[in-house]
Amino acid sequence: MQAIEMPIPEGDVGGEQTVEDKLPACFSTGTESLLQVTDLFKSYRLGQRSLPVLEGLSLDVKIGELVVIMGPSGSGKSTLLNCLSAIDVPDAGSVSLAGTLVDYDSEKARTALRRERVGIVFQFFNLIPTLSVRENILLPLMIRGKVKCEDRERADQLLIQIGLESRGDHLPSQLSGGEMQLTSIARALIHGPELLLADEPTGNVNPRIAEDILETLAGAAKARGVAILMVTHSAEHAAWADRVCFLKDGQIAAVLRQGRRRDQVALIHDYLANLAI
Ligand SMILES: Nc1ncnc2c1ncn2[C@@H]1O[C@H](COP(=O)(O)OP(=O)(O)OP(=O)(O)O)[C@@H](O)[C@H]1O
Ligand SMILES: [Mg+2]
Repeated sequence: MQAIEMPIPEGDVGGEQTVEDKLPACFSTGTESLLQVTDLFKSYRLGQRSLPVLEGLSLDVKIGELVVIMGPSGSGKSTLLNCLSAIDVPDAGSVSLAGTLVDYDSEKARTALRRERVGIVFQFFNLIPTLSVRENILLPLMIRGKVKCEDRERADQLLIQIGLESRGDHLPSQLSGGEMQLTSIARALIHGPELLLADEPTGNVNPRIAEDILETLAGAAKARGVAILMVTHSAEHAAWADRVCFLKDGQIAAVLRQGRRRDQVALIHDYLANLAI
């Protein structure tokens, strides 16, 4: 099934710049596809039965683009992200990153994908409670090997960017939920991933901190050229995206070219209502 690109009502794509207009040429989202997902199938076994979740899903995300996935609970949003980070293995279809196919048959290649090319932000932060905030941010590099002086400098820069420069030596338990999530975003960015997958990153924080989180993600897409795929149930948060993809019946049922129009929340609600999501 082809995703429907619903027309944006007259006047909705007015003066506001889209991400393409604002990015330097090297991060242009115009043509360069970073992530290409083609005809992805994934089902789970439940006893004797098979539960189909993804049923021929296709999607692409360009360099520097922030794409949101919305869909009903249980529609397969986390399943999709887990397949893209190779935590899970799809039954059929292909995923390519900057033109290279993800090799799901190789455990080594799947681990390397997460260590080198993909950053992951989870709804429940998944920080290590016994490590400091700075050490949590450095964790992906610690796993790879020795942490260098410039890595620590990079962690400190990220701490400044997320506004937690005075909290580097604190433990996660000494942070608010929102600060924990900002820390987990810094951790997902420390190794310079090409693709960042964020599963309901604003799901467990208060609305003010949610804005900081969205600003950090949108900034990472723009300034670093990271392609971001974010899941959210909130139309307000989806309005930060360049594109909103609506997942239903295992496929992308509709796409809204949102262009980071944060005043277009009502339109996203319309899509959700029309699709009965
Ligand atoms: N490991 C698993 N084994 C069996 N079924 C699973 C497994 N993981 C997910 N499912 C099922 O697959 C379906 C899709 O789950 P998924 O977590 O991807 O949904 P979701 O869209 O992320 O939902 P939510 O918005 O609630 O987070 C659900 O029906 C879920 O019960
Ligand atoms: Mg989920």
